Amino acid sequence: MLPVVVSGFKHQHSACCGGGRSKGQIICLPLLPLECHNRSQYVFWDPYHPTDAFNAIVAKGAFQGTLQAAHPMNVQQLVET
Ligand SMILES: *[C@@H]1O[C@H](CO)[C@@H](O)[C@H](O)[C@H]1NC(C)=O
Repeated sequence: MLPVVVSGFKHQHSACCGGGRSKGQIICLPLLPLECHNRSQYVFWDPYHPTDAFNAIVAKGAFQGTLQAAHPMNVQQLVET
């Protein structure tokens, strides 16, 4: 797990689509009701995949984040060397 600070997400401990406890036990299937109305408020899309909203934070951290997110340098610094 990347050391990314997760804040601003309404749902950090349950997935947008899936089944079982916290929607983390059964993959997202068409037969399951999609009760999640706004995927941008979730860290997890399904039991295995982060949402686009969370991926954007991870990508930004890798590209221009501090040493805590990208070590020993971020992608922007790597390009500039
Ligand atoms: C979904 O959630 C995001 C983040 O909270 C918010 O910016 C956006 O306006 C919401 N979209 C809708 C359609 O409610």
